[in-house]
Amino acid sequence: MNEESHQSMQSVPSEDLDPPRHATLSAVPVAQLPGTESAGSGAMGPTGRPLPDFPDPAPLSSHGPARIIAMCNQKGGVGKTTTTINLGAALAELGRKVLVIDFDPQGALSVGLGVNAQELDTTIYNLLVERGHEIHEVIQATRTPNLDLVPANIDLSAAEVQLVGEVAREQILARVLRPVVDEYDVILIDCQPSLGLLTVNALTAAHGVIVPLECEFFAMRGVALLIDTIDKITDRLNPRLHVDGILATMYDSRTLHSREVVRSVVDHFGEQVFHTVISRTVKFPDATLAAEPITSYSSDHSGANAYRQLARELIARGGAA
Ligand SMILES: Nc1ncnc2c1ncn2[C@@H]1O[C@H](COP(=O)(O)OP(=O)(O)OP(=O)(O)O)[C@@H](O)[C@H]1O
Ligand SMILES: [Mg+2]
Repeated sequence: MNEESHQSMQSVPSEDLDPPRHATLSAVPVAQLPGTESAGSGAMGPTGRPLPDFPDPAPLSSHGPARIIAMCNQKGGVGKTTTTINLGAALAELGRKVLVIDFDPQGALSVGLGVNAQELDTTIYNLLVERGHEIHEVIQATRTPNLDLVPANIDLSAAEVQLVGEVAREQILARVLRPVVDEYDVILIDCQPSLGLLTVNALTAAHGVIVPLECEFFAMRGVALLIDTIDKITDRLNPRLHVDGILATMYDSRTLHSREVVRSVVDHFGEQVFHTVISRTVKFPDATLAAEPITSYSSDHSGANAYRQLARELIARGGAA
């Protein structure tokens, strides 16, 4: 039995969710890979639904107030940081003013945008835990026009413990962001892989949340807990919070397994799943090493076009201006 037919006999594990309905998989032709196809022709997209056309949005004549979006999944390595960088860069290409917030002590977002945050004296950490700082002191322009960064470094790992005793400890990031909300069109927060107090702060500050899911066997593990956390925050802290979309990442159209994961995610979450799917390609780690978004590192690559399509889809859904 070859590997593909062996995999096809297993369902994608999602022990904490209802069992998926086993929809019949139709093969996704390579020509319809996200970002490379001419969309809108009614052709089937990689999520098993007809792929709509996402037109170029009208240019903005003025900026702000920003829509704040948290990139969130407590599972590690699913593409949160890669999506923050490249969705941010793709929105910036569309003339949107974008601020990305590194909210992970690992500082991968800062590194991926060419900022050596370990050497910085003031970062998001100081804004959160010390009085007398203002966010404008910390914002750095990146090499991508319209894309600015609030960096983080390992100092941020102490914030969670330090904030526990604060009054309104869940609302501290919302307060930190307030002075710049009118200057940007979109603010993306790159969360760390946990559901701790920092992530709760991100979800409390946000209007929307994007959940990247890696197309692999355990993709759905923990998603029920994440949705439960989002529901609790919507109930208790932030009634405006909305799931903007679930994004399938590291998709490999050649494997039945990858297609099966996407179909099972669509079975569970329906229209919440973005039509845009991000394929697995070594260009993403390559671009990170070069400290650039893929949209400039390899502008014509299908991965760059996939994030451009995601930007247009997000705007078409009302998730950004
Ligand atoms: N579509 C993709 N194809 C191939 N590699 C990818 C893709 N997206 C991300 N990667 C790589 O996978 C690794 C994890 O991605 P990323 O850092 O974006 O995930 P993360 O969810 O932010 O991780 P963490 O939870 O550790 O913060 C990185 O090395 C990144 O370059
Ligand atoms: Mg990350």
